[in-house]
Amino acid sequence: MENKLSIKTIGVVGAGAMGSGIAQVAARAGYDVILRDVKDEFLQRGMAAVDKSLQRDVDKERLKDEEKRAIMGRIRNVIEMAALVEADLVVEAVTEDVNVKSEVFRQLDELTKPEAILASNTSSISITKLGAATKRPGQVIGMHFMNPVPVMKLVEIIRGIATSNETYQAVHDLTLKLEKTPLECNDMPGFVSNRVLMPMINEAIFVLYEGIATRESIDGIMKLGMNHPMGPLTLADFIGLDVCLAILNVLHDGLGDPKYRPCPLLKRYVDAGWLGRKTGRGFYEY
Ligand code: 3HC
Repeated sequence: MENKLSIKTIGVVGAGAMGSGIAQVAARAGYDVILRDVKDEFLQRGMAAVDKSLQRDVDKERLKDEEKRAIMGRIRNVIEMAALVEADLVVEAVTEDVNVKSEVFRQLDELTKPEAILASNTSSISITKLGAATKRPGQVIGMHFMNPVPVMKLVEIIRGIATSNETYQAVHDLTLKLEKTPLECNDMPGFVSNRVLMPMINEAIFVLYEGIATRESIDGIMKLGMNHPMGPLTLADFIGLDVCLAILNVLHDGLGDPKYRPCPLLKRYVDAGWLGRKTGRGFYEY
């Protein structure tokens, strides 16, 4: 199907680990990128992550230094949301909080081109609800990238109740241009990825909580026994324990089944500010 909208400029809201990774793959695929965050400091941190990630490929002689500079040069840093008026598609990658995301969608709806697509990188929040915060729910869709974005091949594409086929097709085609694999699912709590992943992580935390095995044993069993690249506790630390808890709460509230209740140990760690790698302590010390 031919899309009416030709995507040339991609906006990314939020320059954290996910947002900066999305900006990087979009710029690497040749798109002009507008990366927006609320503080210059956050933008600098995001660009430092892009620099570091691209440098790995320069060091391995898979990318020339001038190509790296050109990719970084295609990412424009902005604080003003209004700069996103130039974007044909915006990917929102702000904090995993429904109120914060809904407000971003409301603002994007007001200031972007009427034909622009608004995508969310949410890991579990309802795309239908985010669509309802706008007057263009047909152009709202989930584009769920995986961490680390430059490495992971999947983009889970989530259709909200009102997402149009045209929007879906445009985002599917874009994902291929980003050299990722789009896989589609419907809008239910946790989608597919986190509906399956988070109960496994939560169960691993219960196993630790109940004293059945040490953290090393749990992770080693899953790594060596199931060929997972990381054990579930290491992976939880990598994702962020606050993010894991937020997703489990969405599953628990949204599906109403006690099997999704977050382990008390996970709640305690989050209360302590032990959020994983990003704070230097989670199930492991960094
Ligand atoms: N940028 C660019 N390249 C990177 C990178 C980054 N940030 N991090 C790792 N790499 C590259 C390395 O350069 C290396 O490339 P090469 O093999 O071509 O030389 C390759 O990735 C492997 O990296 P390392 O050798 O340094 O380390 P590992 O072999 O341990 O791999 C890992 C690191 C890719 C992170 C691997 O451990 C892994 O796949 N872990 C699981 C990740 C995962 O499950 N992610 C999904 C999380 S869930 C999610 O995101 C959804 C959300 O909603 C919660």
